[in-house]
Amino acid sequence: MLKTTGVKVKGIGRYVPDLIATNDDYARIVDTNDEWITQRTGIKTRHISNGEPTYYLGALAAKDAIADAGISAKEVDLILATTCTPDYFTPSTACLIQRELDVFGCPAIDINCACSGFVYAVDMARRYLMCDDIKNVLVVATEELSKFVDYEDRSTCILFGDAAAAVVLSKEDDTLFSSFIAADGSGASCLASRALLTINPFRQNESEFDMDMPEPNKHYLLQDGKEVYKFATKAMPLAVEKACERAEITPSDLDAIVPHQANVRIIETAAKHLHVPMEKMVLNISDYGNTSSASIPNAFYDGVKSGRIKRGDKVCFVGFGGGLTYGACILEY
Ligand code: COA
Repeated sequence: MLKTTGVKVKGIGRYVPDLIATNDDYARIVDTNDEWITQRTGIKTRHISNGEPTYYLGALAAKDAIADAGISAKEVDLILATTCTPDYFTPSTACLIQRELDVFGCPAIDINCACSGFVYAVDMARRYLMCDDIKNVLVVATEELSKFVDYEDRSTCILFGDAAAAVVLSKEDDTLFSSFIAADGSGASCLASRALLTINPFRQNESEFDMDMPEPNKHYLLQDGKEVYKFATKAMPLAVEKACERAEITPSDLDAIVPHQANVRIIETAAKHLHVPMEKMVLNISDYGNTSSASIPNAFYDGVKSGRIKRGDKVCFVGFGGGLTYGACILEY
């Protein structure tokens, strides 16, 4: 096992909206049923925003993590917010969270790597922590997929929920840490939500690029479920194996794998490829559905609070998502 300069998880936090939507609730709005959703995805309920914005969920999760770390918000040297469902193009979600924390000055950055955002952010946080001027990094993953989901499309709307979860990270010498992050832009259109078209008074022609991605002026999340499924079942084991290689351990040496909670069947297939029992996988998908970048820290939060993940455990976070992006990181909790 390779010991290196890695990260210490000083604190964790979470905030989810109170409003809950069950499979039966979805059966009232689209042609679906509890049995189909449960068998094909493992999802039973999701928390859905009742109007609270994305940054607000993130700010409450951040406050929870800062309190758990036993530091004051003033001691946060960098805010990394991961989201693909922000409230504004500008200001960033990270700046809005900083405003809610009432601390000003530290840099605040948004990271949009869709569902791999948390893994990318932990990798980035560790790189910043190698510099002496950054002692505490707040990583906040906050998402409201409910803003982007087409509630007439039964193949996507049943999958997604809203949540925020956060960690405070500091530098730790002589510990286990490795990461592997990657992207494959050739799969960009497999999972896409469109922003604005270039509309200005000087344009003369329709552009070939207008139709490059999902239908113009519709921001709904569109996905090729089968392609994403195929990609995910390859990318997840690959990322875990690469991160393990770098840490000079094998997947069976890990105490817990906290996977992106997209579909329980994807996680079962990944466990098979990795030759690890499902007990290694930390799951809370049945209660929350897919909450994009918030799903890994949210499952981690439940893992820690339930005692499933203990101090000293070798933990692997692994994600995949739009981009297409994927990655894993391994640390000693
Ligand atoms: N309820 C009932 N039936 C549904 C349904 C729903 N909510 N959604 C789709 N179906 C139907 C389809 O229309 C299809 O019907 P047909 O055979 O009459 O055409 C049938 O169920 C099978 O559809 P299929 O797409 O083959 O199902 P699936 O087993 O592949 O499951 C997903 C669909 C979306 C659950 C699955 O492909 C998946 O999880 N993909 C990955 C998505 C993902 O993880 N996205 C986020 C990545 S970060």
